[in-house]
Amino acid sequence: MIERHNYPMRSENSIIILSRMTDRADTHAGLPGHCVRVAVYVDFLLQALGIAGSAARTIRDAARVHDIGRLAWSSNPHLTSGSLSEDDWRLIRTHPRTGADWLADWRATAEICSLVLHHHERYDGRGYPDGLRGEEIPFGSRVIAVADGFEALTHHRPHRLGFHVDHALAILAQEAGQQWDAGVVEAFVREAYPALSRSGRLMISPDLMRPVNMLAPQGEATA
Ligand SMILES: [Fe+2]
Repeated sequence: MIERHNYPMRSENSIIILSRMTDRADTHAGLPGHCVRVAVYVDFLLQALGIAGSAARTIRDAARVHDIGRLAWSSNPHLTSGSLSEDDWRLIRTHPRTGADWLADWRATAEICSLVLHHHERYDGRGYPDGLRGEEIPFGSRVIAVADGFEALTHHRPHRLGFHVDHALAILAQEAGQQWDAGVVEAFVREAYPALSRSGRLMISPDLMRPVNMLAPQGEATA
């Protein structure tokens, strides 16, 4: 049996490999490119928040691999049409902890593992897996959660339609302080989103950029 701990691996190399695995996880979940888009949005958010250097790099790396735990799913709730069942939600809620455990096995830093573990916590304490609230939630997880929420809102899923971009921004603002950290939402709406639009790096379905489709989709925005 190979003793893998005899083979030291630089954490940058780990992240590259894990990013490729995450891309497979996104495709497997029927959401190709999801973590790539979230990482780009996180980059703009970090600039808006004035965070640079190693702190920014850690959060960006965590964003890039945040949904790797989806690769463990034997069935795929995101391909379910209609409402998600209780069993679907039970499965969905496993992916942050699975992902954090795998990342630890692959020698990602403890901070990256923690950011991934807590990316579905809600500011009001009603998130998962641990029901952390407010500033108990690691800051980087709160940053990833806003970028993740915007990305999820602006893409169609089999069980719900995506939101028009203006509607998605309004939902972020409306849920600030409840689902998401209000300061991070403010930075996204005021600075990161306009900068993303100017840069051409906003990745939204063209039909969700037009002033149509303002009906509220059903179900939770992010999973
Ligand atoms: Fe997730």
